[in-house]
Amino acid sequence: MLVLGIESSCDETGVALYHTGRGLLAHALHSQVAMHAEYGGVVPELASRDHIRRVLPLTRQVLKEAGCTLRDIEGIAYTEGPGLAGALLVGASIAAALAFALKVPTVGVHHLEGHLLAPLLEDNPPAFPFVALLVSGGHSQLMEVTGIGQYTTLGDTLDDAAGEAFDKTAKLLGLGYPGGPALSKLALQGTPGRFKLPRPMLNSGDLNFSFSGLKTAVLTLANQHRNDAEALDEQTRADICLAFQDAIVEVLSRKAVDALKQTGLSRLVVAGGVGANKQLRDGLSHAAAKKRFEVFYPKLEFCTDNGAMIAFAGAMRLRREGRRTMNFPIKPRWDLAQLDAPD
Ligand code: KG4
Ligand code: ZN
Repeated sequence: MLVLGIESSCDETGVALYHTGRGLLAHALHSQVAMHAEYGGVVPELASRDHIRRVLPLTRQVLKEAGCTLRDIEGIAYTEGPGLAGALLVGASIAAALAFALKVPTVGVHHLEGHLLAPLLEDNPPAFPFVALLVSGGHSQLMEVTGIGQYTTLGDTLDDAAGEAFDKTAKLLGLGYPGGPALSKLALQGTPGRFKLPRPMLNSGDLNFSFSGLKTAVLTLANQHRNDAEALDEQTRADICLAFQDAIVEVLSRKAVDALKQTGLSRLVVAGGVGANKQLRDGLSHAAAKKRFEVFYPKLEFCTDNGAMIAFAGAMRLRREGRRTMNFPIKPRWDLAQLDAPD
């Protein structure tokens, strides 16, 4: 079955073609980062309008790359939620219109299911069951995954998501948007050990996270140095970035290892935008070698939002759940643990 996947939940338009027998045939992405950068964050209405402009050209592009035509498409998957309502509606309505014209079924995909199944697109995919560390701009969760659609929440963030903490901290240090990549780049020049920030909830005895205090600790530290030196010099900013990244990576890694211990599982999947962070990957790979578990990541381009993960997750569900109606529900808020297995 050839499935067209459309991702439009936030600020990236992603389109891909996944074939259940032949694998991923083509994928294309348009990032709106440059458009939102001057506002310091995503402007929802601009995001929706840009998705409208991008979905069909990207669809033509992936069809051409895969050597297919519209008539070859046998099902369409789109991101149903969670995400920005207007942005979701663009993908959902284009999917419904295309499906109506082509007389094929549609399926709405949970964005986070897309993220956590993305490592299954790799050559050496993880077998079920596994623990998933889902760390994106909107979510920081540890899930026990026993099969497609069988997700139990082990831990969640009580306030900011990990990516949100990166973004907010980067903003208050005067770095660009999105903050994660900018902050981790500057951290490369940081002096190890100059600053030490708190590790929120490291010893809380559960698998929950809290990152908003860390952001406040960064602000306090930055203010102390700003008073001393008028403005933060580049080295101090780099040192703060490294201290922040050290703290967040240690908490995420420790809780992920605790989740493996608690469930007795030996496979860890890391997914979502923060999964692109090199220090987190290195830290977890190191822990995996020491504590004898396996760790799986999507390739870097499939850590952040993309169409391939939606085409793949949709393909896993389409045969059973495909709709042939003009309804196109969206769910701007949607708990991953509410999903059911496809069979
Ligand atoms: O999964 P994603 O593309 O979108 C959501 O579903 O939220 O994740 C975006 C988040 C942003 O907060 C961004 O700053 C963060 O992932 N991010 C990173 C890195 N690359 C992206 N955070 C830390 N280090 C990175 N290299
Ligand atoms: Zn995402």
